[in-house]
Order: sequence, then C-alpha cells, then structure tokens
Amino acid sequence: MKTLTILGSTGSIGTNTLDVVRRNRHLYQVYALVAGHNDALLASQIAEFRPQVAVLATSSDLDRLSGRLTGLQLPRAAWPELSSGDAARVQVSIAGAVDTVISAIVGVAGLEATYQAVVRGKRVGLANKEVLVSAGQLVMDAVRQYGAELVPVDSEHNGAHQCLRAGNRGQVSRLILTASGGPFRNTPKEALAFVTPAQALNHPTWRMGNRITIDCATLMNKGFEVIEACWLFGFQPSQVDVVIHPQSTVHAMIEYSDGSVLAQISATDMRMPIQYALTYPERSEAPVPKIDWTEARKWEFLPPDFGKFPLLRLAYECQRAGGAATCVLNAADEIAVEAFLEGRMAFPSIYEVVSETLARMPARSPRTVAEILEIDGEARNLAREMVTARAGAVTA
Ligand SMILES: NC(=O)c1ccc[n+]([C@@H]2O[C@H](COP(=O)([O-])OP(=O)(O)OC[C@H]3O[C@@H](n4cnc5c(N)ncnc54)[C@H](OP(=O)(O)O)[C@@H]3O)[C@@H](O)[C@H]2O)c1
Repeated sequence: MKTLTILGSTGSIGTNTLDVVRRNRHLYQVYALVAGHNDALLASQIAEFRPQVAVLATSSDLDRLSGRLTGLQLPRAAWPELSSGDAARVQVSIAGAVDTVISAIVGVAGLEATYQAVVRGKRVGLANKEVLVSAGQLVMDAVRQYGAELVPVDSEHNGAHQCLRAGNRGQVSRLILTASGGPFRNTPKEALAFVTPAQALNHPTWRMGNRITIDCATLMNKGFEVIEACWLFGFQPSQVDVVIHPQSTVHAMIEYSDGSVLAQISATDMRMPIQYALTYPERSEAPVPKIDWTEARKWEFLPPDFGKFPLLRLAYECQRAGGAATCVLNAADEIAVEAFLEGRMAFPSIYEVVSETLARMPARSPRTVAEILEIDGEARNLAREMVTARAGAVTA
C-alpha cells in the first residue's frame, strides 16, 4: 500500500487524484491533504479520506476549517492534525511515512515542498509545471543527486514518458508535444483584443484551473510544457516541436533516429496520467473511457501560429537564454493572467506585460530555492507595475 501526500488536493488535479484513490482504496492511503483557502472542500475530503494531517495556506483558513469539521460532526478523535503555511507544506512532503507526493499546487507556492520531497528521494507525481519552469536546473540536479523519481502527470509529458520507454534514449531525435490550440485557435489576431475572460476560460477539450486555462488560450501553457520537457527528458529546445491537434487525443510523440514515430493516445481524462504516476512501472485498469476504434474519426495536426501566440516563441527564447529567464516568464505571466481575469487589461496585454518584465529584469543564475523565490517576487512586483500602467491607461 502506498502512502500519499497530495499538494493541492482541492484543485482539478487534486480532486482527480482523490478519485483515483477512492477507486483503489486497497492500494493507496492518504497521509496529508494540502490546500490553499478552500476550507469547505478540504473538510469534506478529510471526512472521506481521513488523512493524518491537513494543511491550509493561513491560520484564518484553519479557523474556518475547524468550524466546518465541527459542523460535519466529525468526532474530535477522527480529526487530523491541522496546520498552515509554507513550513507545514514541507513537513508533510518529507514525512517518513510518505512514499509518494502528488505535486498539484498551482504556481511557485508548491516549489519548496516539491523540491524537499525530491531531496528526500520520494516519488513525485509532478503536475505543477511551474516547479520545473522556475527551478528546472535545481530540481533536476536534486533528482539525480538524491535518486528521486519524478513522474510527469502533465498529460503530454506523461505521454512522452510512456513513448520513451519503448526505445533507447540515445536514439531519440525529437519530441512532439500536441496542443489543442485553445478557444482562440480560429479567432483572427485582431479580434483577440476584444475577447473576454469568460471566452478565454471556455477551453474546448479540458476542464482545469483558471490559470492553466488562460495559459492554454495564449499558448503560454504549451511554452511552459516545452521548458518542462527540456528539463524532464534532457532535450534542447530545438528538439521539441509543438503541433496543434484540436482533438487532444494524441498527447505526445517521440521520433527515433530512424524516423519512426511513437505516439501516446488516450481519452482527455487526467485520471489516466495521475494513476500512471502512482503505478509506474506497472499499469492497472483506469476509470477512463477507452477509444472506440470502430467509430469513424478525423484527427488534425497543424503548425502553431507563433505570430498570433507570441508567448510560445518567448518560452523557447527563455529556455535558450537559461538562468532565471524562465522563472521571470512564469512569475510575470501569473500576474498578467490574474489582471486579465480581473478585467484590468486586454488579452494581448498578457504578452506585453510578460515581455516587458523580461526585458527589464537583469540576467541572473539562481542556485537555491530562496534565490528563485526572491527573483520570482521581484518579477511579480515589476509585472504589477506594468499592469497598473496599462490599467491606468485604459481608465484614462
Ligand atoms: N488541471 C489539469 O488538467 C492540469 C493538467 C496538467 C498540469 N496541470 C498543472 O497542475 C497544477 C494544478 O492545476 P489545477 O488545474 O489543478 O489548478 P487548480 O484547480 O487551480 O488548483 C490549484 C490547487 O492549488 C492550491 N493552492 C493554490 N495556492 C496555494 C497555496 N498558496 N498554498 C497551498 N495550496 C495552494 C489550491 O487550493 P485552494 O483551491 O484550496 O485555494 C488548489 O488545491 C498547475 O501547475 C497546472 O499547470 C493541471
């Protein structure tokens, strides 16, 4: 039986992970559930999964959680230990009882706990791509040094992980990541200035958290995935291609040196890659619809439009530049996405804020999590200034 800590249990990946646990009680038990501010959902998860520890972001979140647990009439003896904050997230990720950590907090809030789990040599099911985008060198050095297992949950990287098992890594020439193209695949570039947050949140094939959904609409998410793939599998950016595949059924392809291409194909359901990250190198039945090959179907593969979606190009440039560039890219994007969702600036301004922040941040080579978080904070502050300047211009 495997014992899990789930970072981000109240999110889209977190709830899907708990569904995998729910269906395989004989295989998995939950040591800790970690969330941000959603005390209501965490309380019901505690009642169902009975973790030993539950962690929320702040002490006021904890007060609300206590009230909820009382309201649920969960006997005190069945309550988990309750705690909050950064140190608590780390503690439950490095606890001796834990074999596997599912890293599914959104953004750099999940970095330290994920990094420390790697340093303790745990298996980490990695959904939080911002961990490798912000701190790829540091995390991958630790994976090698401490013998941790980093198994990707992101569906494209999970697909690549599966295809890579079929051959010799030295004979791989190229990785092809697919992208749905997002809700604005067929929207003319000039019309993007007028799209609303509600339209951008309407992803054609996946249901996910708000940040990643907007990142899919700008193709920033695919740029992050290019960076993530370079770190996970040791590719150069020039060896990673992105291809638009609106059906989101082929997740990734690996081209071998003889020109043979292997593809990973499955339904658009995150429970498959989550379960794979738990069972690897084994497989087991997943609660995911199987593809019906007797039905007629059409799959398209199209090149991405780098002119319409410049954040994808910027991601390649940042990965080539190295150092802190990708950390700044992620931080500025998070602030810009937030501002767009709050209606403070237009969709194309996400790119403007991110590229201007990158241009104004000095080149740095962080060597610790603390240095990365410091650069992340500086980039956020700078990006906020750019947003304010734009919001002011809109009001004026
Ligand atoms: N969803 C997908 O299908 C998918 C696919 C591939 C990769 N990913 C990646 O997986 C990660 C999670 O995505 P998601 O879609 O699951 O996001 P989401 O639905 O927005 O969930 C985010 C989770 O992070 C928690 N969180 C946020 N800030 C926190 C903080 N300061 N401390 C502790 N917990 C915090 C949230 O808690 P509260 O809600 O309680 O505040 C929630 O549990 C992202 O990095 C995303 O890029 C997601």
